[in-house]
Amino acid sequence: MFKLGIFGKSVFFLFLFTMARMYGQGPQGAPELTIAVDKPIARVSPTLYGLMTEEINYSYEGGLYADLVRNRAFHPGWDEPAHWFLMQYGNAQASMALDPSTGPSANRRFSLRLNVEKASPTDLAGIENEGYWGIPARANTTYKASFYAKADTASVGPVTISITSDDTGKPLASATAPALGTEWKQYSVTLKTGDIKTSAANHLVLTIANPGKVWFDMISLFPPTYKNRENGNRVDLMEKLAAMKPAFLRFPGGNYLEGDHISERFEWKKTIGPLVDRPTHPSPWHYHSSDGMGLLEFLYWCEDLHMQPVLAVYAGYSMAQEHVNPGADLEPYVQDALDELEYVTGSADTKWGAVRAQNGHPEPFALNYVEIGNEDWFDKSGSYDGRYAQYYDAIKTKYPELQLIATAPVQSRTPDVIDDHYYKRADEFFAFTNHYDKVDRKGPKVFVGEWATREGTPTPNFGAALGDAAWMTAMERNSDLIVMASYAPLFTNVNPGGMQWDTDLIGYDALNSYGSPSYYAQVMFSNHIGSEVIESSLAGAPTRLFYSVTRDVARGVLFLKVVNASSIPHELNIKLTGAGQVEKNAKLIRLAALTTAETNTLWEPTKVVPVESSIANVSDSFRYTFSPYSINIIEFHIR
Ligand code: AHR
Repeated sequence: MFKLGIFGKSVFFLFLFTMARMYGQGPQGAPELTIAVDKPIARVSPTLYGLMTEEINYSYEGGLYADLVRNRAFHPGWDEPAHWFLMQYGNAQASMALDPSTGPSANRRFSLRLNVEKASPTDLAGIENEGYWGIPARANTTYKASFYAKADTASVGPVTISITSDDTGKPLASATAPALGTEWKQYSVTLKTGDIKTSAANHLVLTIANPGKVWFDMISLFPPTYKNRENGNRVDLMEKLAAMKPAFLRFPGGNYLEGDHISERFEWKKTIGPLVDRPTHPSPWHYHSSDGMGLLEFLYWCEDLHMQPVLAVYAGYSMAQEHVNPGADLEPYVQDALDELEYVTGSADTKWGAVRAQNGHPEPFALNYVEIGNEDWFDKSGSYDGRYAQYYDAIKTKYPELQLIATAPVQSRTPDVIDDHYYKRADEFFAFTNHYDKVDRKGPKVFVGEWATREGTPTPNFGAALGDAAWMTAMERNSDLIVMASYAPLFTNVNPGGMQWDTDLIGYDALNSYGSPSYYAQVMFSNHIGSEVIESSLAGAPTRLFYSVTRDVARGVLFLKVVNASSIPHELNIKLTGAGQVEKNAKLIRLAALTTAETNTLWEPTKVVPVESSIANVSDSFRYTFSPYSINIIEFHIR
């Protein structure tokens, strides 16, 4: 031990103070975050946070698209008719088979034939659908049922349609349609439940009481939908999306745009108009799409949530390494994309605008961004450069104002925007947060069209939410360059067999849904963002601490986001310079967990949710301790 005199002690403390300042520690030893409130350094993209969607993990079928009947159009397959079962009550005798010789429309020459040899009002024969892991039924609710059918003789009589409990075998709601005719016709009825217990342990049953042959197709059952749209979307999921305040919707994929084979791509022309005219198609995620969620339904979805569409057009590449050569071979595909753009944006007196008007939407949709393909770096033939150029020239000639997105680097044209995808672990995202800081601002803008911290299954855990939040601070800081960003995948049905890709933002079964911690992190970030990035510096930054600062001048609000991804608390000295007057009370929104494994599930949907409180005695220089494993937003009010 050695002793210091008064002079020695002063010199020693001065030395410590200087070292602390040099290494960024404030007077109290905490790292110092300086925010130059009056110094905006970049514009925040008003479209930064949006949604990416495709048919994966039963996102639409058995997910957002509200129809409760599975395989309503009886697509062929090894277990045909998949999800349908024969019902023979009492002494009824019947059989069923797919019939490729007849159907209700030119595009659907295919149906299910029920051959009833023996039936009576007490010995009914029929068919039963198991739904998407059950048919959800709620008390005092009206369901719209419809089906196409014809009989070989008028004596077959009417079809009765019921939501039937698995436990009791009794109908919870049922209705009888008018007697069948011998020509294809659509029948529609409503089913109303009484004061029943909410449950998904039900089936849909269609029965007849007389012998004869009956052909069925397009059997459908809709619960109430979001904004009561016909052929619409599930309410709880739309409400969850609305809470994210998304600025855009990227659709229809993803791999779903491309399909495994060219013949299995998303052919938009086969997804519009009456449902009975849509042929349906296999999806690359190994199940069949009814195409009930067609091009116009995607656009309605945008309209309902006030999002702008980011339309991906098929660009001549499908995932089994099939491509169309640029040049004459590609021409019809390019024309198809031009037709699609006219369908979306053309007035009702254009050819395809008129089709849209006939389909129910006379007003054109606003469109700014078009993506040419998806992840075309997978195309080993190297044809993307030529394909991109051909689409680029054709689209720019007709629609010079459209911003065209490339999915892989190209040389022959300069894309307006490049779509970057990142699927990473949390520690990889922590190390990646400076990636865009030094990127050339003179080149194309960036669309982070797919990103996610992949930790946790089926949905991300809190460790993933920390990775996501750290990455979002980096994207906000660089949102002069990053015009849009969207997490992927958005949805998963959590039933066994429902998920093809794990770590998905929102989980659900037939009845309920929940947001993951990552979902809540996104709700927090997109609801609290300014219009300008503010100059700031963090001296003596602790490990695994990330932040961003944006300001909304018009509202006089400054948003400081701090992600403490470490297991220990971190105190910061926060200095607001050039602030004028800072209100004493600031709002704090905090999402926190005790461990990185903590998560939300269907059974504990709100275990990890944001909590709002206030911070008192805020001034232009104050200290705040950010708790371990926490995502924080401080909303300062500045005059
Ligand atoms: O989001 C899941 C898949 O990941 C997308 O379909 C594809 O674009 C990417 O490879």
